[in-house]
Amino acid sequence: MKNSAPRFTKAGMLAYFAKGSLGLFALSILCNLVMTLLLVLIPQLIGFTVDCVIGSEEVSSAYEVFVRIFGGVDVLKENIWLIAVIVVALSLVTALFRYGNNFLNLHANQVMLKRIRDTLFPHLQRLPLKWHHLHNTGDVIQRCTSDVDAISNFVSGQLVTLFRIVIMIALSMTLMFLTDVRLAAIAAVFLPAVVAYSAVFFAKLLPEYRKCDEEEGVLSTIAQENFTGVRVVRAFGREKEERDKFEKQNAHYTGQWVRVMRQSALFWTTSDLLTGLQLLFIIVFGTIFCVNGSLSAGDLIVFISYNTLLVGPMNTLGRIISNMSRAGIALGRISEIMNSEVEDYGSAEPLHGDIVFDHVTFCYEEGKPVLSDVSFTVKEGTTLGILGGTGSGKSTIAYLLDGLYPLTSGSISIGGRDIATLSPATIRSAVGFVLQEGFLYSRTVGENIKIAAPEASDEDMKRAAHLACVDEHIESFPEGYKTEVGERGVTLSGGQKQRVSIARTLMRRTPVLVFDDSLSAVDSETDFRIRARLNENLKDVTKLIISHRVTTLMQSENIIVLEEGRIMEQGTHEELMQRGGIYRTIYDMQMALPDELKEELRDETHRS
Ligand SMILES: Nc1ncnc2c1ncn2[C@@H]1O[C@H](COP(=O)(O)OP(=O)(O)O)[C@@H](O)[C@H]1O
Ligand SMILES: [Mg+2]
Repeated sequence: MKNSAPRFTKAGMLAYFAKGSLGLFALSILCNLVMTLLLVLIPQLIGFTVDCVIGSEEVSSAYEVFVRIFGGVDVLKENIWLIAVIVVALSLVTALFRYGNNFLNLHANQVMLKRIRDTLFPHLQRLPLKWHHLHNTGDVIQRCTSDVDAISNFVSGQLVTLFRIVIMIALSMTLMFLTDVRLAAIAAVFLPAVVAYSAVFFAKLLPEYRKCDEEEGVLSTIAQENFTGVRVVRAFGREKEERDKFEKQNAHYTGQWVRVMRQSALFWTTSDLLTGLQLLFIIVFGTIFCVNGSLSAGDLIVFISYNTLLVGPMNTLGRIISNMSRAGIALGRISEIMNSEVEDYGSAEPLHGDIVFDHVTFCYEEGKPVLSDVSFTVKEGTTLGILGGTGSGKSTIAYLLDGLYPLTSGSISIGGRDIATLSPATIRSAVGFVLQEGFLYSRTVGENIKIAAPEASDEDMKRAAHLACVDEHIESFPEGYKTEVGERGVTLSGGQKQRVSIARTLMRRTPVLVFDDSLSAVDSETDFRIRARLNENLKDVTKLIISHRVTTLMQSENIIVLEEGRIMEQGTHEELMQRGGIYRTIYDMQMALPDELKEELRDETHRS
């Protein structure tokens, strides 16, 4: 069952993420605005001081109010320190607003980051298994980190800065034109040139940045694979190869960044040159105008101050414009995740345990069937054994029964209902699945068992552990069921892990149980004890036991033998033995084991 969740456009998604932090961003922008206004006020004050307080030009009407507060320009001439105090005070207030702006912006940014993570993580959890198979973990993690950062930088850095820069440029340009039209014209010629130059430059640099992201993705995939597969790496002594592989990629990644940095350094140098030239023209012409009397010294100082305020924003504007497309790419990659359809769990309905596979054919990749025309029936309360070599499709049968993949053709029903019509919640509550590699969380043994049924009582937990023949082991741990598993506590053997996984699945009391090679790591003796306890205590439960070990399966009411996704033989142990086909061959081969093992297997046959 799929739901048609609303699809996000890039802008729509950005708005969704920014919800809740917009107020903070607005406040931060307001602080920014006040700060900018204060910043342009200081040069005005200095220009006025040079011309009217130190010099003897007439006070223009704009300053009359200001002068009147101090009781006339003569008071200021005698107490010039007053102006210094005002400049310091203005700078202090500017700093205050700068602090407000930074704090609010960072705060808003964190609020937004939290919202993005809170949206992404649950969404990833609800994506179908197939989606996770198609996307490698390193790439997904990179999207959840670098791309998320790129988006938050865009909002808290670029958008807010863009706003400030545009205001700064507009304000300083206006004031420059008011101060001197001729000099302002010089600055106005350079402005579009510098902005265009930086926009074009960074647009060209963008693919290089993208390559950095990709190289980073490859690097984190290598690292992540090595951590999850650390045992394989050690067991095969592949440390050196893996280290070399990592170092090679690390060098690639670094090289890519160095290339990008070299080019950006080139940019900053050339654009500094351009703005330096602009300043040169302004100083040369400004001095000429001063000498011929058409510009006052104070106005030249004001003008140069504004030009300095203008240069930074001019350089940054182009970069921001082209960086926006980088954020666009990040948004695209995140919206691809957000727009992937999630599984709608729906609500669970009770089912009984009859299972029918009817001419099931299935391909992971088109044209390569992993299961071909598989048909079998398992009556409620009986056991089906599935025997087959590695890659024969045993696990795939279990995945399909659990509704993890849609069928290519044919149908599967549980309790007479076609699973294609059932909600995932219904299927999951009907099928208890024990995987071969029991994954345990770094929590206590008890918590691991109770994971699927946190409300269950301790009696239930102990009963499940008893059925899985792991209760005695657990009780022998220093803190029993409260013993931590993994790094901080005990290390369980493969067989103990498998049995804890079995206990965990039993907690859910499902009408169907699937054991996918989940007894492979326990010895035959314990394997037998577990099966005996399950048969005795879970009479109504339908069981599918997948194994490559004949002794694990041979008491099943029905056994299928799988080879390359096809059912080669089907029947009870006796029927299959009489038939003398593959099953018989496998049985004979497994019996031709070292003597002590043979003894063990024979004992078991007698007991059954
Ligand atoms: N996620 C997958 N994508 C593509 N092929 C897969 C996937 N999982 C398993 N296969 C292929 O399907 C075949 C059957 O796999 P599986 O059911 O795991 O076999 P078994 O459990 O009997 O060892 C194998 O050839 C395997 O390579
Ligand atoms: Mg398997």
